[in-house]
Amino acid sequence: MAKDKTLYVCAECGGQTTKWQGQCPHCLAWNVLSETVAEIKPRRFQALAASGKVQRLSEVQAREIPRIPTSLAEFDRVLGGGLVAGGVVLIGGDPGIGKSTLLLQALAALAVQRKTLYVSGEESADQIAMRANRLGLKGIDIPILTETRLESVLATLNHEQPQVAVIDSIQTLYTEALQAAPGSVSQVRECAQELTRHAKQTGTTVVFIGHVTKEGALAGPRVLEHIVDTVLYFEGDTGSSFRLIRAFKNRFGAVNELGVFAMTDKGLKGVNNPSALFLNRAEQEAPGSCVVVTQEGTRPMLVEIQALVDSSHTPTPRRLTVGLDPNRLAMLLAVLHRHGGIGCFDQDVFVNVVGGVRIVEPAADMAILTAVVSSIKNKVLPHKLAVFGEIGLAGEIRPVQRGQERLKEAAKLGFNLILLPKANMPKQMPAGIQVRGLSTLQEALECLRNL
Ligand code: TYD
Ligand code: MG
Repeated sequence: MAKDKTLYVCAECGGQTTKWQGQCPHCLAWNVLSETVAEIKPRRFQALAASGKVQRLSEVQAREIPRIPTSLAEFDRVLGGGLVAGGVVLIGGDPGIGKSTLLLQALAALAVQRKTLYVSGEESADQIAMRANRLGLKGIDIPILTETRLESVLATLNHEQPQVAVIDSIQTLYTEALQAAPGSVSQVRECAQELTRHAKQTGTTVVFIGHVTKEGALAGPRVLEHIVDTVLYFEGDTGSSFRLIRAFKNRFGAVNELGVFAMTDKGLKGVNNPSALFLNRAEQEAPGSCVVVTQEGTRPMLVEIQALVDSSHTPTPRRLTVGLDPNRLAMLLAVLHRHGGIGCFDQDVFVNVVGGVRIVEPAADMAILTAVVSSIKNKVLPHKLAVFGEIGLAGEIRPVQRGQERLKEAAKLGFNLILLPKANMPKQMPAGIQVRGLSTLQEALECLRNL
């Protein structure tokens, strides 16, 4: 009998070593190797896609990929227009954020016209039925399989031949080919690989639901992200009813696309005008609040940024941000001091993006500083003011992408005074709104003083 071979697999990168070490030799992370038993089998290492002969790229016919719309417009938006036959989607998120709910809703809409299958390893059939009732999906037939053994899931897929299959969740599946426990690195990877192979061979769309660890990474190896075509993350705090789905990787569409949902007592509802939702502001304006026009994927969005500057009682004043990079704030404060003559070295600075949104693009720079200055000077900004623009280390205001679209979105929502980088000035002024193009921080501060 062949002796089982012991392997140590890294939980971070999925790399393998034959003996235990404190540090993974592949990604250099510490304390991540766990023991698994690898069976020596000749069958392993099959390609994910079918192999073929050498072709010339110019001779390959690029086909328009047909999309399978899910009827949830916001979900389709992050997917790049809908699901793709043979495409594999991984959707990760914190427990209780609504992953199962979203996919049950999507499958219910798809089940009307197509064959679908919902594989649940986490909940029993009656739990799923209870959720479906709650979602008002009583009359709709969705085939459900409660199973955690990969071999039997694959057999059902082969037999039922659904067009769309959901696996809830990939961490509960296990294959008999491996001895490791379900949820371990090797099991998750092996199951994902087998199902991906099935998807590519049969043209089935497979959606994996994935758990997220306390640190926010997808539980299981990072290789899971390499195997699949699309990686989506569900965000938003469970305290608020807003849920954001962000695309991190998409072989069939744009990344950084954002879908906005609200969790209601009847499941997730798409929010097609998120600006209106994030801008739900008080009538009584306070200093330190400024609206930024940010761009999420292909959609411009207006979000409120709030700043509070308060004298500090600690030797190292605090710079605290919610929804923004704190290093970016520290940099902007340095620029404000050097090029604008306004210092905050004895002040605590808190900046918050309202509504649980996270802004990563530098186009929010000008709005952040506007909010900070407004708080320092205790000056209320005009209610219908919107700002965007990047600030450089030399105190210059740099243009941002898609300036026209941002301007249009702000105008559409009734903003009538827009501060933007000079290079983003429109050739034709939109009617009824004032647009000020700025090229330096001094100019911007001067402009704020006169508001
Ligand atoms: P669920 O889809 O089970 O989360 P996940 O699969 O990501 O762990 O989400 C369940 C949460 O959503 C739960 O806390 C209850 C809430 N919820 C509603 O508010 N309204 C609803 O209609 C449903 C079905 C769930
Ligand atoms: Mg679930």
